[in-house]
Amino acid sequence: MINMGFNMRYLDLKRRIRDVRVWAIQGIAEAGSGHPGASFSAAEIMGTLYFRTMKHNPSNPVWEDRDYFINSKAHSAPGFYSTLAVAGYFPPEEIRTLRKLGSRLQGHPVRYSEHQKHHSVPGVEYSGGSEGIGLSVGIGIALAKKLDREKTKMNKVYVLIGDGESNEGQIWEASMAAGKFKLDNLVTILDRNRIQQDGFTEDIMPLEPTKDKWAAFNWQVFEVDGHKVEQIVDALYKAARVHDKPVMIVANTIKGNGIRHMANNPQWHGKAPPKRHTEVLLEELESECLIAPSIIAGERENYENKIRKVEREGVDMIHLDVMDGRFVPNTTFFADTIKKLRPSTSLPFDAHLMIEKPLEQIQEYIDARCDIITVHAEACTENEFKEIQERLINAGISPGIAINPETEMPKWLYRCLRDLDVIIVMSVNPGFAGQKFMPEVLPKMMAVNKELMKHGFRGYIEADGGIDATTLHQAYDAGARIFVAGAAVYGGGDIHGSVIQLRHKAAVALEKRLLNHSTQLNVRSDWMKARKHILIPYANELGIEEELHAIK
Ligand code: DX5
Ligand code: ZN
Repeated sequence: MINMGFNMRYLDLKRRIRDVRVWAIQGIAEAGSGHPGASFSAAEIMGTLYFRTMKHNPSNPVWEDRDYFINSKAHSAPGFYSTLAVAGYFPPEEIRTLRKLGSRLQGHPVRYSEHQKHHSVPGVEYSGGSEGIGLSVGIGIALAKKLDREKTKMNKVYVLIGDGESNEGQIWEASMAAGKFKLDNLVTILDRNRIQQDGFTEDIMPLEPTKDKWAAFNWQVFEVDGHKVEQIVDALYKAARVHDKPVMIVANTIKGNGIRHMANNPQWHGKAPPKRHTEVLLEELESECLIAPSIIAGERENYENKIRKVEREGVDMIHLDVMDGRFVPNTTFFADTIKKLRPSTSLPFDAHLMIEKPLEQIQEYIDARCDIITVHAEACTENEFKEIQERLINAGISPGIAINPETEMPKWLYRCLRDLDVIIVMSVNPGFAGQKFMPEVLPKMMAVNKELMKHGFRGYIEADGGIDATTLHQAYDAGARIFVAGAAVYGGGDIHGSVIQLRHKAAVALEKRLLNHSTQLNVRSDWMKARKHILIPYANELGIEEELHAIK
């Protein structure tokens, strides 16, 4: 299938990037060597390019109209191969042959050639290994495409460079050249994870002020959080509209992001985890949590302010509770308000429509550019939901279904699972923020989770209603991974502290789960050893202080 740079919905994009990490870590563990650090810092960058922005065709890697991706930091190969595989260039299972004799997936990628199908990798445009060169290659392609402008004026060239390799003089020579030739078909992304092979970049060869340097070389510079796909999408969109200048996107990332004991640790630049940890690591990758504050909670205040306050705290989404006064005994706001709020943030909008007859109004919410739209099972029939789902998928929006505390999961949902991204299991009767959590919904949440997983559901379970620092772990244990929090975030005076507290509780729940898993696999003390520096702050809550202390 040709990816034309649209129609990739938020949660599906997140899920595919999760799959990239899952495959990459399996490949590295099987091989006993490889680079998890760089694979994971660049996962969102490569994933967003391949699954959302770039024009490319996995069944025809040499398609003339494609955009180009040059992975200059080629040691991130496990992540790159996994991205290509998840995009459809070859079966992901092949990742298990990483670095093995006879495999085409070697430690550094080999450029695809139709004449050498068994020795080169479909989708790879550049054989990397020596650092600092990829940008020059990208410039060559971008210049050639400029000369060819009439025929291929749509081709873009994306180059990923590392901050370690930015020590190379050739990067800066290339930087000058791209500025000189005004290569506005070239977008370079710097994976700014601040760690290189031997330590922290700022100790070895400081790069700061990075943005000023690139701007001084006549580049248009943007800066993003390189693990927030919505920011990357946004910057790439802006980059496509820059004229007469090359674009540099400085993506602030965390080396090893996704596995907490590997994160921001130079030791994990190029080290494989022991194979016996793989299952636990996969569990960690699959347990990523998202926090979604509900802006109807707390004092009446303008919604833009409320959004700004939680954006600063690094929350994942904004939960928008639409209430029509009929489906629920309260009225909040409608699509026009969402439309007005849309330009105020790049954070994904998680719209929860508590309205009668959602099908009749769905277009307004699509036009308001929500990222997730959830409607209630009590408010639509199977056919209506299927139509809603289809329209959302076509618009690149994640579809969701919500069920009230008293409602059982409708049987017809089994027929809609393939393209379902969210199930909200309400833990209060909808209508108001600030209600008390209903623990009686937990068995249902757990059953829904188990049942749906069995039937191939790959979306998220969202807990909504009364989630706070005392209840989050219960919903987590029942399988929820998106947490709506209204009163818990906006109800007290301290938004900063509240978000930290929620994240902390999610982290404790995760560590508990992973510890249990490691016990089942008979690797508990070994796991605790690898994880010691992460576990220390939670030891008390997990009741493992002595056990942890004894681990050297
Ligand atoms: C309830 C809404 C919830 C709620 C969340 O009808 O769907 O999103 O407002 O707020 P808290 O966390 O305060 O229950
Ligand atoms: Zn809600």
